[in-house]
Amino acid sequence: MTKDQLFGKPVTAFEDILDNYPPAQVKLFTAITFTKFNRVRMRLYSKCKEMGYSFANYVSSRAFVWRNVKIGENTFIFEDNTIQYNVEIGNNVVLWSGNHIGHRTRINDNCFLTSHVVVSGYCNIGENSFIGVNATIGDFVEIPKDSLIAAGAVIVKSLTTPGLIYMGNPAKPTEKTVYEKFGIGDEGE
Ligand SMILES: CC(C)(COP(=O)(O)OP(=O)(O)OC[C@H]1O[C@@H](n2cnc3c(N)ncnc32)[C@H](O)[C@@H]1OP(=O)(O)O)[C@@H](O)C(=O)NCCC(=O)NCCS
Repeated sequence: MTKDQLFGKPVTAFEDILDNYPPAQVKLFTAITFTKFNRVRMRLYSKCKEMGYSFANYVSSRAFVWRNVKIGENTFIFEDNTIQYNVEIGNNVVLWSGNHIGHRTRINDNCFLTSHVVVSGYCNIGENSFIGVNATIGDFVEIPKDSLIAAGAVIVKSLTTPGLIYMGNPAKPTEKTVYEKFGIGDEGE
């Protein structure tokens, strides 16, 4: 720790949060982006959950969210997202600005969608996946867990192998997996 205040708010060491901010008094939000392919955000979220915390969500008042959309916890939805009817969004998900999430799609836990991604209807985006700017996912597409969909990639058929990086139109997998590229494991660690 290098400072005890940030933006006028107190900074507390993680080791001290149980004493300074007990779970009965606060809700947490783990404000981490996609560092180490989402693994840092995943680790902190699950650690805080084990410690007994509940979590806040943020949904921008400038996002369009249909009234029956289900949203988990510790999830952050920026401005200009369009989230259509019957969409389900899991826990610890980040939707950066301007995405379209089509009807009946499910975005599973720990995913990070950057900006201006189009996910069509009836898709299932596997947990921990990262989708780069301007990527396009056709309807009824299944994306396995730990997928990295590159900026501008177009995916029109379901993918089957977890942990691959897809680029281009039509998107093709690269040689390296996300596990190799980011030096991470396939069990969420
Ligand atoms: C897929 C990605 C992770 C690859 O990164 P990388 O491994 O560092 O790749 P490199 O930059 O070394 O490029 C390797 C090759 O792939 C090509 N390439 C990289 N990204 C590409 C993309 N999105 N689509 C098509 N080709 C791509 C490069 O042009 C390069 O080709 P070359 O070998 O013929 O010169 C990255 O390019 C990407 O798309 N990241 C997402 C960016 C994004 O959405 N950021 C938002 C942040 S909020």
